[in-house]
Amino acid sequence: MRVQVAIIGAGPAGLLLGALLHRAGIDAVLVEQRSAEYAPGRIRASVLEQTTVDLLDAAGVGERMHHEGLLHDGIELCFGGARHRIDLKKLTGGKHVMVYGQTEVTRDLMHARDAAGLKTIYEAEHVSLQDFDSARPRVRYQQAGATHEIECDFIAGCDGFHGVSRASVPASAIQIHEKVYPFGWLGLLSETPPVSHELIYSNHERGFALCSMRSLHRSRYYLQCPIDDKVEAWSDEAFWAELRRRLDPEAAESLVTGPSLEKSIAPLRSFVAEPMRFGRLFLAGDAAHIVPPTGAKGLNLAASDVGYLSRALAEFYAGSETGIAHYSDRCLRRIWKAERFSWWFTSLMHRFPETGAFGQKLQAAELDYLVHSTAASTALAENYVGLPLRD
Ligand code: FAD
Ligand code: PHB
Repeated sequence: MRVQVAIIGAGPAGLLLGALLHRAGIDAVLVEQRSAEYAPGRIRASVLEQTTVDLLDAAGVGERMHHEGLLHDGIELCFGGARHRIDLKKLTGGKHVMVYGQTEVTRDLMHARDAAGLKTIYEAEHVSLQDFDSARPRVRYQQAGATHEIECDFIAGCDGFHGVSRASVPASAIQIHEKVYPFGWLGLLSETPPVSHELIYSNHERGFALCSMRSLHRSRYYLQCPIDDKVEAWSDEAFWAELRRRLDPEAAESLVTGPSLEKSIAPLRSFVAEPMRFGRLFLAGDAAHIVPPTGAKGLNLAASDVGYLSRALAEFYAGSETGIAHYSDRCLRRIWKAERFSWWFTSLMHRFPETGAFGQKLQAAELDYLVHSTAASTALAENYVGLPLRD
């Protein structure tokens, strides 16, 4: 097979890149190691920045999102037994975020891809990347015992944190920056109305909690938990009781509980691999960087990376190499700002056993400052709704 771009991974980054390239008249194939049924089942992010909404619109997959997604004009910070609203809209001159699950984004992109008759190779085994330092890269994979090869002009590594693309780059050519946090997030999904119409981020002496949602009848809640905790150790009852303890009395009182549809524990990590271009291989999304979920930036960064990449490739086929030459620097400028924000918000909201009473006093002082200073809450608001896409 011969295509212009071979995309490794059919997560949100790979699927969105495929859709944007199709719109630009560039021919691409997606190579995914899992089945088509597996990906939409992963419960992950839900907060979309306006820049992500714009890219999904540009890819022609925004219709259901605009219909079913929820526009949020604010978030609430809970500490010291009370909630304090951050008015995102007022503080950012009219911006907001869209709450629409990653599972739905993935479904919409897969559906559009099928409808356009575009090719995705699912259940590809032993995927390997060849000769991306030359003008004729190739991707090899196995399926049903047979080996296949794709010849292409470029490879886009959109295969997530554990993928093969970043691992194919020689260690001497890549620099890794990493911070692992000493706790995880235990998440629970339930068919219950959200406790509040906006997200609540709670800093509590027992640990962080987050009240989020997928729709007006489906909720997603998270609890900070020890890194070595096991999901099996948490009954639904234990989860709900612990969540209640970490909320203000009014939210605790009005919380509607129900059986979990899904429960899982995710580790928290900050990670950046740079650069993001190696000859004719580009990394995008979680393949190149991870943020702790507190700032809700992971999916948004994946989207902005592929926004830059699709434009760079369109420019290449129109005769200019400027876009691909600047791809890595453009992405990394935005990524490091999201890394900083996600690290800061994580540090502010979680319990860190090692920092003791001094650390907690500093958090309390900063939270008090944050909700009483327009300058400080504006800095939170403009990062939360997303920084502008710059050239
Ligand atoms: P992925 O979604 O990881 O997709 C990569 C794809 O590549 C997958 O389909 C995978 O099967 C495929 N693949 C992997 N290896 C290979 C291979 N060798 N060959 C072919 N295909 C391969 N972000 C938030 O903003 N908020 C959240 O609450 C949040 N929660 C999260 C919880 C968890 C447990 C995780 C892991 C992430 C979470 N994120 C969250 C981050 C967000 O979901 C990611 O940033 C987003 O999924 C990145 O998309 P991606 O397409 O780059 O990578
Ligand atoms: C979620 O709904 O899963 C979610 C929302 C906001 C975050 C993290 C996760 O900051």
